[in-house]
Amino acid sequence: MNTFSFHNPTKLIFGKGTLEQLQAELPKYGKKVLLVYGGGSIKRNGLYDNVIGILNALGAQIYELSGVEPNPRLSTVHRGVDLCKKEGIEVLLAVGGGSVIDCTKAIAAGAKYDGDFWDIVTRKAAAQDALPFGTILTLAATGSEMNSGSVITNWETQEKYGWGSPYTYPKFSILDPENTYTVPKDQTVYGVCDIMSHVFETYFHHTPNTPVQDGLCESVLKAVIQAAPKLVNNLKDYELRETVLYSGTMALNGMIGMGIRGDWATHNIEHAVSAVYDIPHGGGLAILFPNWMKHVLKDEENVPRFKQFAINVFGIDPAGKSDRQIGEEGIEALRSFWNSIGAPSRLADYDIDDAKLDIMADKAMVYGPFGNFKKLERNDVLEIYRLSL
Ligand code: NZQ
Ligand code: ZN
Repeated sequence: MNTFSFHNPTKLIFGKGTLEQLQAELPKYGKKVLLVYGGGSIKRNGLYDNVIGILNALGAQIYELSGVEPNPRLSTVHRGVDLCKKEGIEVLLAVGGGSVIDCTKAIAAGAKYDGDFWDIVTRKAAAQDALPFGTILTLAATGSEMNSGSVITNWETQEKYGWGSPYTYPKFSILDPENTYTVPKDQTVYGVCDIMSHVFETYFHHTPNTPVQDGLCESVLKAVIQAAPKLVNNLKDYELRETVLYSGTMALNGMIGMGIRGDWATHNIEHAVSAVYDIPHGGGLAILFPNWMKHVLKDEENVPRFKQFAINVFGIDPAGKSDRQIGEEGIEALRSFWNSIGAPSRLADYDIDDAKLDIMADKAMVYGPFGNFKKLERNDVLEIYRLSL
Protein backbone atom coordinates (compact mmCIF):
# COMPACT_ATOMS: atom_id res chain seq x y z
CA MET A 1 0.00 0.00 0.00
CA ASN A 2 0.96 3.62 -0.31
CA THR A 3 1.08 5.71 2.84
CA PHE A 4 -2.19 7.52 3.41
CA SER A 5 -4.32 9.50 5.81
CA PHE A 6 -8.07 9.12 5.64
CA HIS A 7 -10.64 11.56 6.91
CA ASN A 8 -14.23 11.66 5.72
CA PRO A 9 -16.26 14.04 7.86
CA THR A 10 -19.69 13.44 6.25
CA LYS A 11 -22.30 12.09 8.64
CA LEU A 12 -24.09 9.33 6.73
CA ILE A 13 -27.69 8.70 7.73
CA PHE A 14 -29.08 5.65 5.95
CA GLY A 15 -32.35 3.73 5.85
CA LYS A 16 -36.12 3.81 5.79
CA GLY A 17 -37.74 6.81 7.42
CA THR A 18 -34.48 8.69 8.01
CA LEU A 19 -35.72 11.92 6.41
CA GLU A 20 -37.02 12.88 9.85
CA GLN A 21 -33.44 13.32 11.01
CA LEU A 22 -33.24 16.45 8.93
CA GLN A 23 -35.00 18.07 11.82
CA ALA A 24 -32.02 17.44 14.11
CA GLU A 25 -29.23 17.99 11.59
CA LEU A 26 -30.11 21.14 9.69
CA PRO A 27 -30.50 23.63 12.57
CA LYS A 28 -26.87 22.99 13.55
CA TYR A 29 -25.84 25.09 10.55
CA GLY A 30 -28.33 27.93 10.32
CA LYS A 31 -31.89 29.05 9.63
CA LYS A 32 -31.56 30.74 6.26
CA VAL A 33 -31.68 27.75 3.96
CA LEU A 34 -31.15 27.50 0.21
CA LEU A 35 -33.01 24.43 -1.05
CA VAL A 36 -31.37 23.21 -4.27
CA TYR A 37 -33.10 20.73 -6.57
CA GLY A 38 -33.41 19.62 -10.18
CA GLY A 39 -36.05 19.53 -12.85
CA GLY A 40 -39.01 18.52 -10.74
CA SER A 41 -38.75 14.81 -9.88
CA ILE A 42 -38.93 15.66 -6.17
CA LYS A 43 -42.18 17.56 -6.74
CA ARG A 44 -43.70 14.63 -8.62
CA ASN A 45 -42.80 11.99 -6.03
CA GLY A 46 -43.77 14.00 -2.95
CA LEU A 47 -40.29 14.42 -1.44
CA TYR A 48 -40.39 18.19 -1.94
CA ASP A 49 -43.55 18.49 0.19
CA ASN A 50 -42.05 16.35 2.93
CA VAL A 51 -38.86 18.42 3.03
CA ILE A 52 -40.72 21.72 3.01
CA GLY A 53 -42.91 20.39 5.84
CA ILE A 54 -39.83 19.75 7.97
CA LEU A 55 -38.24 23.09 7.09
CA ASN A 56 -41.44 24.90 8.02
CA ALA A 57 -41.66 23.02 11.30
CA LEU A 58 -38.12 24.21 12.03
CA GLY A 59 -39.09 27.79 11.30
CA ALA A 60 -36.47 27.94 8.57
CA GLN A 61 -36.31 30.86 6.16
CA ILE A 62 -36.50 29.03 2.84
CA TYR A 63 -34.99 30.14 -0.48
CA GLU A 64 -35.08 27.90 -3.54
CA LEU A 65 -32.86 27.22 -6.53
CA SER A 66 -34.59 24.80 -8.89
CA GLY A 67 -33.86 23.52 -12.38
CA VAL A 68 -30.36 22.19 -11.78
CA GLU A 69 -29.57 20.34 -15.00
CA PRO A 70 -28.24 16.79 -15.29
CA ASN A 71 -24.57 17.67 -15.96
CA PRO A 72 -24.98 20.86 -13.91
CA ARG A 73 -23.99 24.09 -15.58
CA LEU A 74 -21.81 26.97 -14.51
CA SER A 75 -24.65 29.40 -15.26
CA THR A 76 -26.77 27.68 -12.60
CA VAL A 77 -23.89 27.80 -10.14
CA HIS A 78 -23.65 31.55 -10.78
CA ARG A 79 -27.38 31.96 -10.06
CA GLY A 80 -26.98 30.12 -6.78
CA VAL A 81 -23.86 32.03 -5.73
CA ASP A 82 -25.58 35.36 -6.42
CA LEU A 83 -28.58 34.27 -4.35
CA CYS A 84 -26.39 33.19 -1.43
CA LYS A 85 -24.45 36.44 -1.43
CA LYS A 86 -27.54 38.64 -1.82
CA GLU A 87 -29.66 36.91 0.82
CA GLY A 88 -26.95 35.92 3.29
CA ILE A 89 -27.75 32.20 3.04
CA GLU A 90 -26.40 30.23 6.02
CA VAL A 91 -26.82 26.63 4.91
CA LEU A 92 -27.64 24.78 1.70
CA LEU A 93 -29.74 21.67 1.31
CA ALA A 94 -29.37 19.59 -1.87
CA VAL A 95 -32.32 17.32 -2.65
CA GLY A 96 -31.61 15.21 -5.72
CA GLY A 97 -29.01 13.18 -7.57
CA GLY A 98 -25.33 13.79 -8.14
CA SER A 99 -25.94 16.81 -10.36
CA VAL A 100 -27.90 18.64 -7.68
CA ILE A 101 -25.29 17.78 -5.06
CA ASP A 102 -22.37 18.79 -7.29
CA CYS A 103 -24.05 22.09 -8.08
CA THR A 104 -24.66 22.68 -4.38
CA LYS A 105 -20.99 22.07 -3.62
CA ALA A 106 -20.03 24.63 -6.26
CA ILE A 107 -22.48 27.19 -4.93
CA ALA A 108 -21.30 26.59 -1.35
CA ALA A 109 -17.67 27.23 -2.35
CA GLY A 110 -18.55 30.01 -4.80
CA ALA A 111 -20.42 31.91 -2.11
CA LYS A 112 -17.14 32.23 -0.23
CA TYR A 113 -15.08 33.23 -3.26
CA ASP A 114 -14.82 36.75 -4.67
CA GLY A 115 -13.91 35.90 -8.27
CA ASP A 116 -15.64 33.82 -10.94
CA PHE A 117 -16.30 30.29 -9.71
CA TRP A 118 -14.94 28.85 -12.97
CA ASP A 119 -11.45 29.81 -11.68
CA ILE A 120 -11.86 27.10 -9.06
CA VAL A 121 -13.05 24.46 -11.52
CA THR A 122 -10.13 25.23 -13.84
CA ARG A 123 -7.63 25.21 -10.96
CA LYS A 124 -6.63 28.85 -11.35
CA ALA A 125 -7.71 29.29 -7.74
CA ALA A 126 -8.41 26.90 -4.86
CA ALA A 127 -11.49 27.03 -2.66
CA GLN A 128 -10.56 28.47 0.74
CA ASP A 129 -13.92 27.95 2.44
CA ALA A 130 -17.53 26.96 1.75
CA LEU A 131 -20.96 27.39 3.24
CA PRO A 132 -22.13 24.29 5.12
CA PHE A 133 -24.54 22.01 3.26
CA GLY A 134 -26.41 18.75 3.69
CA THR A 135 -27.88 16.41 1.10
CA ILE A 136 -30.92 14.22 0.63
CA LEU A 137 -29.93 11.79 -2.09
CA THR A 138 -32.52 10.54 -4.57
CA LEU A 139 -30.41 8.55 -7.06
CA ALA A 140 -27.71 5.93 -6.48
CA ALA A 141 -24.76 6.71 -8.71
CA THR A 142 -22.06 9.26 -8.07
CA GLY A 143 -21.08 8.96 -4.41
CA SER A 144 -21.18 12.75 -4.29
CA GLU A 145 -23.22 12.42 -1.09
CA MET A 146 -20.10 11.34 0.78
CA ASN A 147 -17.17 12.84 -1.05
CA SER A 148 -15.77 16.29 -1.69
CA GLY A 149 -15.80 16.17 -5.48
CA SER A 150 -18.03 17.97 -7.94
CA VAL A 151 -18.24 18.08 -11.74
CA ILE A 152 -19.37 21.27 -13.47
CA THR A 153 -20.05 21.98 -17.13
CA ASN A 154 -19.38 25.30 -18.83
CA TRP A 155 -21.83 24.96 -21.70
CA GLU A 156 -20.60 28.12 -23.44
CA THR A 157 -17.10 26.69 -23.86
CA GLN A 158 -18.23 23.03 -23.85
CA GLU A 159 -15.92 22.11 -21.00
CA LYS A 160 -16.71 19.74 -18.15
CA TYR A 161 -14.26 19.25 -15.30
CA GLY A 162 -14.13 17.78 -11.85
CA TRP A 163 -12.86 19.78 -8.91
CA GLY A 164 -12.93 19.33 -5.16
CA SER A 165 -11.79 20.76 -1.86
CA PRO A 166 -11.55 19.79 1.79
CA TYR A 167 -14.44 22.23 2.41
CA THR A 168 -16.97 20.54 0.16
CA TYR A 169 -17.81 17.36 2.02
CA PRO A 170 -21.50 17.39 2.92
CA LYS A 171 -22.03 17.94 6.66
CA PHE A 172 -24.65 15.20 6.54
CA SER A 173 -26.34 13.07 3.90
CA ILE A 174 -29.68 11.36 4.31
CA LEU A 175 -30.17 8.25 2.17
CA ASP A 176 -33.54 6.51 2.24
CA PRO A 177 -33.78 3.79 -0.43
CA GLU A 178 -37.49 4.62 -0.80
CA ASN A 179 -36.49 8.05 -2.13
CA THR A 180 -34.94 6.23 -5.10
CA TYR A 181 -38.07 4.20 -6.00
CA THR A 182 -39.12 6.65 -8.72
CA VAL A 183 -35.76 6.72 -10.51
CA PRO A 184 -36.70 5.44 -13.98
CA LYS A 185 -35.14 2.32 -15.46
CA ASP A 186 -32.66 4.13 -17.72
CA GLN A 187 -31.31 6.34 -14.92
CA THR A 188 -31.15 3.31 -12.62
CA VAL A 189 -28.99 1.54 -15.20
CA TYR A 190 -26.75 4.59 -15.68
CA GLY A 191 -26.31 4.70 -11.91
CA VAL A 192 -25.30 1.04 -11.79
CA CYS A 193 -22.73 1.60 -14.57
CA ASP A 194 -21.35 4.67 -12.79
CA ILE A 195 -21.05 2.82 -9.48
CA MET A 196 -19.24 -0.11 -11.08
CA SER A 197 -16.99 2.29 -12.98
CA HIS A 198 -15.96 4.02 -9.76
CA VAL A 199 -14.89 0.66 -8.41
CA PHE A 200 -12.98 -0.10 -11.63
CA GLU A 201 -11.14 3.23 -11.40
CA THR A 202 -9.89 2.07 -8.00
CA TYR A 203 -9.44 -1.63 -8.76
CA PHE A 204 -7.21 -1.22 -11.81
CA HIS A 205 -4.03 -0.13 -10.07
CA HIS A 206 -0.41 -1.20 -9.62
CA THR A 207 -0.11 -0.68 -5.87
CA PRO A 208 1.36 -3.78 -4.17
CA ASN A 209 -0.23 -5.63 -1.23
CA THR A 210 -3.85 -4.51 -1.29
CA PRO A 211 -5.80 -7.72 -0.54
CA VAL A 212 -8.37 -6.00 1.67
CA GLN A 213 -8.99 -3.17 -0.79
CA ASP A 214 -9.24 -5.57 -3.74
CA GLY A 215 -11.66 -7.75 -1.81
CA LEU A 216 -13.81 -4.74 -0.93
CA CYS A 217 -13.89 -3.70 -4.59
CA GLU A 218 -14.85 -7.21 -5.71
CA SER A 219 -17.52 -7.40 -3.03
CA VAL A 220 -19.16 -4.14 -4.14
CA LEU A 221 -19.03 -5.24 -7.78
CA LYS A 222 -20.53 -8.65 -7.08
CA ALA A 223 -23.32 -7.19 -4.95
CA VAL A 224 -24.27 -4.76 -7.72
CA ILE A 225 -24.02 -7.47 -10.41
CA GLN A 226 -26.40 -9.64 -8.39
CA ALA A 227 -28.87 -6.89 -7.59
CA ALA A 228 -29.07 -4.88 -10.82
CA PRO A 229 -30.77 -7.40 -13.16
CA LYS A 230 -33.52 -7.94 -10.59
CA LEU A 231 -33.82 -4.24 -9.81
CA VAL A 232 -34.38 -3.17 -13.42
CA ASN A 233 -37.43 -5.45 -13.46
CA ASN A 234 -38.67 -4.41 -10.05
CA LEU A 235 -37.84 -0.75 -9.45
CA LYS A 236 -39.63 -0.55 -6.12
CA ASP A 237 -37.90 -3.45 -4.37
CA TYR A 238 -36.62 -2.05 -1.08
CA GLU A 239 -33.72 -4.43 -0.55
CA LEU A 240 -32.40 -4.12 -4.09
CA ARG A 241 -32.59 -0.31 -3.93
CA GLU A 242 -30.89 -0.48 -0.53
CA THR A 243 -28.01 -2.61 -1.86
CA VAL A 244 -27.40 -0.37 -4.86
CA LEU A 245 -27.70 2.84 -2.84
CA TYR A 246 -25.17 1.67 -0.26
CA SER A 247 -22.88 0.40 -3.03
CA GLY A 248 -22.95 3.82 -4.68
CA THR A 249 -21.77 5.52 -1.53
CA MET A 250 -19.09 2.92 -0.81
CA ALA A 251 -17.78 3.03 -4.36
CA LEU A 252 -16.63 6.63 -4.08
CA ASN A 253 -16.35 7.73 -0.46
CA GLY A 254 -12.71 6.69 -0.17
CA MET A 255 -13.32 3.54 1.86
CA ILE A 256 -12.43 0.91 -0.74
CA GLY A 257 -9.37 2.67 -2.08
CA MET A 258 -7.28 3.68 0.92
CA GLY A 259 -3.58 3.52 0.10
CA ILE A 260 -4.29 2.87 -3.61
CA ARG A 261 -3.55 5.12 -6.54
CA GLY A 262 -6.56 4.58 -8.79
CA ASP A 263 -6.58 5.15 -12.54
CA TRP A 264 -9.39 7.64 -13.35
CA ALA A 265 -8.60 7.88 -17.06
CA THR A 266 -12.00 6.66 -18.27
CA HIS A 267 -13.83 9.30 -16.25
CA ASN A 268 -11.71 11.95 -17.91
CA ILE A 269 -12.45 10.49 -21.34
CA GLU A 270 -16.18 10.39 -20.58
CA HIS A 271 -16.36 13.93 -19.24
CA ALA A 272 -15.00 15.14 -22.57
CA VAL A 273 -17.85 13.33 -24.35
CA SER A 274 -20.59 14.71 -22.11
CA ALA A 275 -19.02 18.19 -22.31
CA VAL A 276 -19.67 18.18 -26.06
CA TYR A 277 -22.80 16.03 -26.37
CA ASP A 278 -24.46 16.40 -22.93
CA ILE A 279 -25.07 12.64 -22.57
CA PRO A 280 -25.69 10.94 -19.20
CA HIS A 281 -22.41 10.26 -17.44
CA GLY A 282 -23.21 6.62 -16.60
CA GLY A 283 -24.30 5.93 -20.17
CA GLY A 284 -21.01 7.30 -21.46
CA LEU A 285 -19.03 5.13 -19.06
CA ALA A 286 -20.99 2.04 -20.10
CA ILE A 287 -19.80 2.63 -23.66
CA LEU A 288 -16.21 3.60 -22.90
CA PHE A 289 -15.04 1.47 -19.98
CA PRO A 290 -14.88 -1.95 -21.69
CA ASN A 291 -13.00 -0.28 -24.54
CA TRP A 292 -10.51 1.32 -22.15
CA MET A 293 -10.00 -2.19 -20.73
CA LYS A 294 -9.49 -3.71 -24.18
CA HIS A 295 -7.04 -0.99 -25.16
CA VAL A 296 -5.01 -1.38 -22.00
CA LEU A 297 -5.01 -5.17 -22.02
CA LYS A 298 -3.88 -5.18 -25.65
CA ASP A 299 -0.72 -3.39 -24.46
CA GLU A 300 -0.24 -6.15 -21.86
CA GLU A 301 -0.61 -3.70 -18.97
CA ASN A 302 -0.82 -5.67 -15.71
CA VAL A 303 -2.46 -8.74 -17.24
CA PRO A 304 -2.72 -10.51 -13.83
CA ARG A 305 -5.04 -7.74 -12.65
CA PHE A 306 -7.41 -8.41 -15.56
CA LYS A 307 -7.20 -12.12 -14.82
CA GLN A 308 -8.12 -11.53 -11.17
CA PHE A 309 -11.02 -9.32 -12.27
CA ALA A 310 -12.35 -11.97 -14.67
CA ILE A 311 -12.13 -14.83 -12.20
CA ASN A 312 -13.14 -13.12 -8.95
CA VAL A 313 -15.86 -10.81 -10.29
CA PHE A 314 -17.37 -12.68 -13.23
CA GLY A 315 -16.40 -16.25 -12.32
CA ILE A 316 -14.58 -16.92 -15.60
CA ASP A 317 -13.22 -20.49 -15.71
CA PRO A 318 -9.44 -20.19 -16.19
CA ALA A 319 -8.84 -23.81 -17.25
CA GLY A 320 -6.69 -24.14 -20.35
CA LYS A 321 -6.56 -20.41 -21.10
CA SER A 322 -3.75 -17.87 -21.11
CA ASP A 323 -3.95 -15.02 -18.60
CA ARG A 324 -4.71 -12.64 -21.43
CA GLN A 325 -7.57 -14.80 -22.74
CA ILE A 326 -9.03 -14.95 -19.25
CA GLY A 327 -8.81 -11.17 -19.02
CA GLU A 328 -10.48 -10.77 -22.41
CA GLU A 329 -13.32 -13.04 -21.32
CA GLY A 330 -13.78 -10.89 -18.23
CA ILE A 331 -14.13 -7.78 -20.39
CA GLU A 332 -16.65 -9.56 -22.62
CA ALA A 333 -18.58 -10.65 -19.52
CA LEU A 334 -18.77 -7.03 -18.39
CA ARG A 335 -19.98 -5.90 -21.83
CA SER A 336 -22.64 -8.65 -21.86
CA PHE A 337 -23.73 -7.82 -18.34
CA TRP A 338 -24.20 -4.14 -19.10
CA ASN A 339 -26.00 -5.01 -22.35
CA SER A 340 -28.28 -7.36 -20.45
CA ILE A 341 -29.53 -4.60 -18.15
CA GLY A 342 -30.08 -2.21 -21.05
CA ALA A 343 -26.98 0.01 -20.94
CA PRO A 344 -25.79 1.67 -24.15
CA SER A 345 -22.75 0.08 -25.79
CA ARG A 346 -21.83 2.41 -28.67
CA LEU A 347 -21.51 6.17 -29.09
CA ALA A 348 -23.92 5.69 -31.99
CA ASP A 349 -26.58 4.87 -29.37
CA TYR A 350 -26.44 8.63 -28.62
CA ASP A 351 -26.14 9.54 -32.32
CA ILE A 352 -22.48 10.41 -31.88
CA ASP A 353 -20.31 9.78 -34.94
CA ASP A 354 -16.64 10.51 -35.61
CA ALA A 355 -17.17 14.21 -36.44
CA LYS A 356 -15.89 15.58 -33.13
CA LEU A 357 -13.44 12.95 -31.93
CA ASP A 358 -10.51 15.36 -32.24
CA ILE A 359 -12.33 18.04 -30.29
CA MET A 360 -13.17 15.57 -27.53
CA ALA A 361 -9.60 14.25 -27.44
CA ASP A 362 -8.27 17.82 -27.08
CA LYS A 363 -10.60 18.39 -24.15
CA ALA A 364 -9.57 15.13 -22.49
CA MET A 365 -5.88 16.11 -22.89
CA VAL A 366 -6.23 19.58 -21.44
CA TYR A 367 -4.07 18.74 -18.41
CA GLY A 368 -1.70 16.49 -20.40
CA PRO A 369 -1.34 12.69 -20.46
CA PHE A 370 -3.41 11.03 -17.75
CA GLY A 371 -4.30 7.72 -16.08
CA ASN A 372 -2.33 6.00 -13.33
CA PHE A 373 -2.86 2.37 -14.43
CA LYS A 374 -1.72 3.25 -17.91
CA LYS A 375 -0.69 6.73 -18.95
CA LEU A 376 -2.78 7.70 -21.98
CA GLU A 377 -1.58 9.98 -24.76
CA ARG A 378 -3.84 11.66 -27.29
CA ASN A 379 -3.56 8.69 -29.68
CA ASP A 380 -4.75 6.31 -26.98
CA VAL A 381 -7.77 8.50 -26.29
CA LEU A 382 -8.64 8.64 -29.97
CA GLU A 383 -8.33 4.89 -30.29
CA ILE A 384 -10.68 4.34 -27.34
CA TYR A 385 -13.19 6.73 -28.92
CA ARG A 386 -12.90 4.91 -32.27
CA LEU A 387 -13.42 1.54 -30.60
CA SER A 388 -16.59 3.04 -29.09
CA LEU A 389 -18.21 4.43 -32.24
O1 NZQ B 1 -33.63 16.86 -12.22
P1 NZQ B 1 -34.64 15.93 -11.66
O2 NZQ B 1 -36.03 16.27 -12.05
O3 NZQ B 1 -34.49 15.69 -10.20
O4 NZQ B 1 -34.42 14.49 -12.41
C1 NZQ B 1 -33.22 13.75 -12.33
C2 NZQ B 1 -32.40 13.82 -13.62
O5 NZQ B 1 -33.22 14.03 -14.73
C3 NZQ B 1 -33.56 12.30 -12.25
N1 NZQ B 1 -33.81 11.83 -10.87
C4 NZQ B 1 -33.00 11.94 -9.81
N2 NZQ B 1 -33.57 11.34 -8.74
C5 NZQ B 1 -34.80 10.92 -9.14
C6 NZQ B 1 -34.94 11.22 -10.50
N3 NZQ B 1 -36.07 10.92 -11.19
C7 NZQ B 1 -37.06 10.30 -10.53
N4 NZQ B 1 -36.97 9.97 -9.22
C8 NZQ B 1 -35.86 10.24 -8.49
N5 NZQ B 1 -35.79 9.87 -7.21
O6 NZQ B 1 -32.43 11.62 -12.77
C9 NZQ B 1 -31.83 12.42 -13.76
C10 NZQ B 1 -30.33 12.37 -13.59
O7 NZQ B 1 -29.94 12.99 -12.38
P2 NZQ B 1 -28.42 13.36 -12.11
O8 NZQ B 1 -28.33 13.98 -10.77
O9 NZQ B 1 -27.87 14.11 -13.28
O10 NZQ B 1 -27.70 11.92 -12.12
P3 NZQ B 1 -26.40 11.43 -11.38
O11 NZQ B 1 -26.65 11.24 -9.94
O12 NZQ B 1 -25.94 10.28 -12.17
O13 NZQ B 1 -25.35 12.63 -11.51
C11 NZQ B 1 -24.62 12.84 -12.69
C12 NZQ B 1 -23.61 13.97 -12.54
O14 NZQ B 1 -22.65 13.68 -11.51
C13 NZQ B 1 -21.32 13.80 -12.06
C14 NZQ B 1 -21.52 13.43 -13.49
O15 NZQ B 1 -20.45 13.83 -14.30
C15 NZQ B 1 -22.81 14.16 -13.82
O16 NZQ B 1 -22.57 15.53 -14.05
N6 NZQ B 1 -20.40 12.99 -11.26
C16 NZQ B 1 -20.11 13.41 -10.02
C17 NZQ B 1 -19.22 12.74 -9.20
C18 NZQ B 1 -18.90 13.21 -7.84
N7 NZQ B 1 -19.34 14.38 -7.44
O17 NZQ B 1 -18.22 12.54 -7.08
C19 NZQ B 1 -18.52 11.54 -9.66
C20 NZQ B 1 -19.12 10.93 -10.86
O18 NZQ B 1 -18.14 10.15 -11.48
C21 NZQ B 1 -19.70 11.87 -11.85
O19 NZQ B 1 -18.73 12.37 -12.74
ZN1 ZN C 1 -18.68 8.48 -12.35
